[in-house]
Amino acid sequence: MLSKKIESALNEQVALEHESSQHYLAMASWAAINGYQGVSNFLYLQSDEERMHMLKLFHYINDRGGHALVPSGVKTPTSFKDVNQVFELVLKHEVKVSTSINLLVDACLKEKDYSTHNFLQWYVAEQIEEENTAREILDKLKLIGNDKGGMYLFDRDLSARQPGDRDNKGK
Ligand code: FEO
Repeated sequence: MLSKKIESALNEQVALEHESSQHYLAMASWAAINGYQGVSNFLYLQSDEERMHMLKLFHYINDRGGHALVPSGVKTPTSFKDVNQVFELVLKHEVKVSTSINLLVDACLKEKDYSTHNFLQWYVAEQIEEENTAREILDKLKLIGNDKGGMYLFDRDLSARQPGDRDNKGK
């Protein structure tokens, strides 16, 4: 059985994963209408992954006797300066998510909720991966600079990402 404190913290994490999903969906849409089909593909899939992260928490809360709550609407930006800005925002957001997961893990230890602590280890590992992916993409964009050919290839690489494909991130 979840304590009220942990239940509420998990529901806050549900809202944050939902926010991630909606933000990446807005970015995917912007990329699609600006000619970056690969970037768009990558972000649509990332948005789906974030929804999966949200649902995993959702089921866990209900399975442990809590009540998972549907987050309210998220206001997302509709336009971005360039692809660089998009991925800078992705990294910033992922760092925020990691901080939130770490606080949640800490709260579980304080409450002696070892089951939730164990459940959250998947998210701890996932955040390392997600921050790393965003950093690698930003490094690549730095190398590309204003090279239009490089940007074309970068976008083409990101179009190769498939659903559930954790190894194909445009490397
Ligand atoms: Fe589910 Fe990217 O944090």
